[in-house]
Amino acid sequence: MTIKPLIILPDPVLRQVSAPFETIDDSVHALSSDMIETMYDAPGIGLAAVQIGIPRRMLVIDVSKEDEEKAPQVFINPEILQSSDERSVYEEGCLSIPDYYAEVERPARITVKYLGLDGKEHIDDAEGLLATCLQHEIDHLNGVLFIDYISRLKREMVIRKFTKASKIRA
Ligand code: NI
Repeated sequence: MTIKPLIILPDPVLRQVSAPFETIDDSVHALSSDMIETMYDAPGIGLAAVQIGIPRRMLVIDVSKEDEEKAPQVFINPEILQSSDERSVYEEGCLSIPDYYAEVERPARITVKYLGLDGKEHIDDAEGLLATCLQHEIDHLNGVLFIDYISRLKREMVIRKFTKASKIRA
């Protein structure tokens, strides 16, 4: 398991649409281990492969509470089958947009289809933080960031700030 460097806004890789996996082999298992390690190190509660520069449709999530045992979940080729009309609002952040948080409204409950590391298809219902986290991460697979849901003015401010910072880093 290796901790990988995170891709930070405004890296254009974050806007790429990730490609699905055809087979679940050892390299896919290894990638999921690296992603889990990187997520815990950050620390974060979710990570998409594209955030470590690999535009493939995989995400890892752990929404367990601090006093609970770690419970990482791996979702390969995830797809939202159903979304509730009921909405919920969470303050979201993103490991690719460090130290920026904003409230985002999304469907409160979703049904998601995905492949597990066992290569089998699973269909799960999710609600609460898990539902929000899944939608945030699945957005990453389509090149969408949570700042796309805030006002244009705020979004442009955030992008400007990160563009300046990236020039200083370079
Ligand atoms: Ni994110």
